[in-house]
Amino acid sequence: MSGEDVVSTGSTDGTGSSTHGTGSAAPGGQVLVLAGGLSHERDVSLRSGRRVAEALRGSGLDVAERDVDASLLAALRSDRPACVVPMLHGETGEDGAIREVLELLDVPYVGAPPAACRTAFDKPVAKAVVARAGIDTPEGVCLPHETFRELGAAQVMAALVARLGLPLMVKPAKSGSALGCSVVRTAEELPSAMVNAFAYGDVALLERFVVGLEVAVPVIDDGSGPRALPAVAIRPDGGVYDYTARYTAGSTEFTTPAPLDEALTALVARVAVTAHEVLGLRDVSRSDLIVDADGRVWFLEVNVAPGFTETSTVPLAIQAAGLDLGKVCASLVQAAVARSIPQE
Ligand SMILES: Nc1ncnc2c1ncn2[C@@H]1O[C@H](COP(=O)(O)OP(=O)(O)OP(=O)(O)O)[C@@H](O)[C@H]1O
Ligand SMILES: [Mg+2]
Repeated sequence: MSGEDVVSTGSTDGTGSSTHGTGSAAPGGQVLVLAGGLSHERDVSLRSGRRVAEALRGSGLDVAERDVDASLLAALRSDRPACVVPMLHGETGEDGAIREVLELLDVPYVGAPPAACRTAFDKPVAKAVVARAGIDTPEGVCLPHETFRELGAAQVMAALVARLGLPLMVKPAKSGSALGCSVVRTAEELPSAMVNAFAYGDVALLERFVVGLEVAVPVIDDGSGPRALPAVAIRPDGGVYDYTARYTAGSTEFTTPAPLDEALTALVARVAVTAHEVLGLRDVSRSDLIVDADGRVWFLEVNVAPGFTETSTVPLAIQAAGLDLGKVCASLVQAAVARSIPQE
């Protein structure tokens, strides 16, 4: 399915600048890809946005790309797009804020609604929601910066190590691209890991470290119900899937479909679809999971605006499923436009 019956068809020359559309404006209107923003993941967002915009153009849609700034609202009002594709990562992109504004303006957009984004983007909250649905998630402790100041950092950290053991994982409660995340192997490494996490937000999540195969499982719903795409196994050269391992071509080995037996393949798919459903997500999500040696699947987090860069896992999974990136993106646009049309 392409978006052509709902959204207009434009040229596919792909030569547009970052703020101008390509192709002819036609009755159905233009698709607007939002990318950039002020988050720490601005660069990643620009790369994701560019790739999605080009893929949509390749499917024959009229597409413009635009950053998020003080001129956005006026532009949305004066030149109303048929649909917005928010390719914004990090805080303002994934916490629901931009989608809240799109709702205010009644502009259709691809992706989960604001309240679901807020829940999903807050890792401790998302973990609690999926755990209630019977999904395993690593034991964790969530603490704000103040607690360390009030109660004495050394004593709180000693209690954390005693509970979670070593190694343990420290991460900001709300962040992305592994920014502020550290593996802590000795108690001496914990203070600097906490400082690193608090650089990205006031609340840190500390988790028991899970040893196993990391897999990313995208879920796509073009209107016919959420379905998992093939899982992508992630093996970073340096052992840690950090920012560099994510966005430096060749520094991580991706295998898709992931080398899992039939039962585990079905299980990771089920976990990702369940997370998508119980969190109230829509259109597209990506769950990050670890499969341990006992075949237990651990939910780490879910992304409501997953990366679509050249080294991102969602495009790899789309390709492995035998699907075309442009057509998948166009079908998501189609679904977003269709639900915005009032039902009789
Ligand atoms: N409990 C854990 N045990 C082992 N490894 C973990 C654990 N939590 C996180 N990791 C590792 O740290 C990475 C970053 O963690 P996580 O996915 O929670 O953060 P993120 O910054 O939101 O990433 P993303 O870019 O996917 O949004 C994971 O991809 C995984 O490699
Ligand atoms: Mg992740």
